[in-house]
Amino acid sequence: MKTLSQLMKMKHEQTKLSMVTAYDFPSAKQAQQADIDMILVGDSLGMTVLGYESTVQVTIEDMIHHGKAVRRGAPDTFVVVDMPIGTVGLSDEDDLKHALRLYQETQANALKVEGAHLVSFIQKATRMGIPIVSHLGLTPQSVGVMGYKLQGGTKEAAIQLIEDAKAMEEAGAVLLVLEAIPSDLAQVITEKLTIPVIGIGAGKDTDGQVLVYHDMLNYGVDRQAKFVKQFADFSIGIEGLKQYNDEVKNGTFPSEQHTYKKKIMDEVETND
Ligand code: KIV
Repeated sequence: MKTLSQLMKMKHEQTKLSMVTAYDFPSAKQAQQADIDMILVGDSLGMTVLGYESTVQVTIEDMIHHGKAVRRGAPDTFVVVDMPIGTVGLSDEDDLKHALRLYQETQANALKVEGAHLVSFIQKATRMGIPIVSHLGLTPQSVGVMGYKLQGGTKEAAIQLIEDAKAMEEAGAVLLVLEAIPSDLAQVITEKLTIPVIGIGAGKDTDGQVLVYHDMLNYGVDRQAKFVKQFADFSIGIEGLKQYNDEVKNGTFPSEQHTYKKKIMDEVETND
C-alpha cells in the first residue's frame, strides 16, 4: 500500500497518481489488481449503485457499509472514504464523532470532505490523527446550490479557489481533489501546493486523476460528463444476460457440462 509520504514523494518526483472510485468487494479487488494508487469510496455511490438522483440522500451507514466491503476487496490499497452530506459542518463534537466512526469502522486511510468552509474541521480532525482530503471546485453535495457546472470560471472565482486551496493545505489536508475547473487554474493550484492535487475534469496538469468506476467502464450509466473517458464497456453484461434468458427459455442451459451426473435415484425408494 502507498503511504501518504510515498504519495507526496510521487508529486515531487512528478510521477502521476491514479485514483478510481469503488463501492464494493469486486470493484475494489479489480482496482487493486490494476495497481491503481488510491481508491475513493465516493458518495457518488448514491447514483452509481443505489440509484439516487444525487449524493444528497447518502447516509453515514451507506458509506460504512460500502467502505468496509472496499477495504476487504483492497486490503493493500490506499482507501479514501467520503463523509456524506449532513455528517460534517455541524458542531465540532458531531463532526469529529462522525469522522471517527467512519475512519474506525471502514479502516480507511483518509476521509474526504467537500467545500472550503471546513478549515476548522480539517484542523481538528488532523490533530485527532485522521488524515483529511479536501474536495473543491464542483462539489456534488452542493448541487442544489451550484448545479453541475464548471467552477472557477471567472477571475474572482479563480482567485478565490486559489486562496481556498491554500487554506486547505494550511489546515492540514493531505490531498486536494479539484473537480470541473479550467485546466490552467488547476495547473496553478497544483504548482502552488505541496500536497498532491488530484483532478476530475481539471485537465492534465494536476498531480493525478480520479474517475468514477461506473462512468469509465460504462457500467449502468445513462449519461457521461464531458471529462469522462470510457476505458471499457461493461454494458456487454446485458448481452450475457439476454443470452442466459434465451437459453433458460429454450432449454439449452444447463447443459451436461453444468450438471452433476452422479446417479442417486436408483438407490432411493419413493413412496408412490
Ligand atoms: O463521490 C465521488 O465519486 C467523488 C469524485 C467525483 C471525486 O467525490
